[in-house]
Amino acid sequence: MSGHNVWTHKGTFLLAAVGSAVGLGNLWRFPYLTGENGGGAFILIYALTIFAVGIPILIAETMLGRTSRQSPIMGMRHLTKTHKTSRAWESIGWLGAASAFLILSFYSVIAGWALHYTWLMLTGSLVGADAATISAGFDALLASPGLMTLYHTLFIAFSALIVGMGIHKGIESGLRIMMPALFVILIVVLIYGVINGDVRAAASFLFTFNIADLSLEGWLQAMGQSFFTLSLGMGAIMAYGAYMSSEASLTRTAIAVAFVDTAVAMVAGLAIFSLVFGAGLETGQGPGLMFVTLPLAFADMPFGALVGGVFFILVLGAAISSSISLIEPVAAFLVERFDMTRPQAVTIMVVAAWAMGLLTVVSFNIWAEGTLFHALFGRSAFEFIELLTNIFMPLGGLMIALFAGWALTQNEVMKELGTNITWFKTWRFLVRFVGPAAVSFVFLRTIPQVEGYVVPTLGALLIVGIFALSQRLRKSA
Ligand code: PFF
Repeated sequence: MSGHNVWTHKGTFLLAAVGSAVGLGNLWRFPYLTGENGGGAFILIYALTIFAVGIPILIAETMLGRTSRQSPIMGMRHLTKTHKTSRAWESIGWLGAASAFLILSFYSVIAGWALHYTWLMLTGSLVGADAATISAGFDALLASPGLMTLYHTLFIAFSALIVGMGIHKGIESGLRIMMPALFVILIVVLIYGVINGDVRAAASFLFTFNIADLSLEGWLQAMGQSFFTLSLGMGAIMAYGAYMSSEASLTRTAIAVAFVDTAVAMVAGLAIFSLVFGAGLETGQGPGLMFVTLPLAFADMPFGALVGGVFFILVLGAAISSSISLIEPVAAFLVERFDMTRPQAVTIMVVAAWAMGLLTVVSFNIWAEGTLFHALFGRSAFEFIELLTNIFMPLGGLMIALFAGWALTQNEVMKELGTNITWFKTWRFLVRFVGPAAVSFVFLRTIPQVEGYVVPTLGALLIVGIFALSQRLRKSA
């Protein structure tokens, strides 16, 4: 579509996609999952999935955005028409919008914790504090719906402001300042960790490969994490892809995004575990690794309050550059479909996600147990929302892979990829077969408490279903 917005520079998509990919997933989730799952073996599966499944689907999702040049929902509507496929494929856009909305709702609450810790660090409140004090402080934050709502509101409002200013003045300019600053901070924290911590212990923990340490659950978590960290299946990459210059190389860009994202996770892991081992602390603390263990490590180190404060600013910046990519696909849809102004569209999305976020806030305190959610689903509202996104995300990725792999014609794809036939065939094989198989595997994990023959049976059904679907898509291509 002519007249559609395009990023100012050829390389801006790369900047935006890296901004979306690098976030709480790298700095908070990756280190604690690695810590819980025994280190090296987890990383091996994570990296393998990124390269064999993540990159091809990243290319597919960007391609769907760039060929349609519209928001994910309208873009998929357009593609189902031009490719004469069932309109059901439009659900790629709807599913993405729903996931983006749900993820934004809890992402903002957790990013809000980082705001709290930035403040605590920079005011020196935690200097010299002991383990009991720091852990009681985190519990007190979680116990306070008021405080959590305040931080959640500040975070989401700031993200909204950036997206509301438009893709050039808001998103592009914001990222151009934020991203280089984030990389500088990351390097500073790494150097600090090397000087004050135990980088040898951290490196051997992260890079010593022992497959026996990895449970099946860990395996699946590694694969799920590789989707989350690349922002796949949620329309974020598709929305940004719609603004991508036709001249930029899809393959090279996707590889660069995956490479930078993985490098950031590794460097963050190295820095965090250096500090944790240096202070003689435990690695397997789960989600509290960043908010309890790490502040404790900083508490007794030289300039710990300052570097800790700067570290939490890094976490905040990375979270903002990701949350704006969750707002964009839905806001762009509202603008296209209902002719709204951008500020109106952003306000609607963000106010709704903010209200939804309150469910996450109360899941840690007043509604921590004994609610309707617990009665119906055996978990808190926050855990339920997280579970939903864990289902939607791989499902979206799966459908994107199938649509791009089977419905787009060879000519179209060759034009988009702009490479030789060998790479085209490799890519198409990966999105047609390898991606869907791997994603189905991750997807099955999210069905709770399945045992015995259920998983293989569902797996077989899924494979048959995928095959049937792909044949129908092929006919229409
Ligand atoms: N990739 C982000 C992270 O690792 O923190 C999270 C995320 C952002 C997921 C945007 C999905 C998305 F659309």
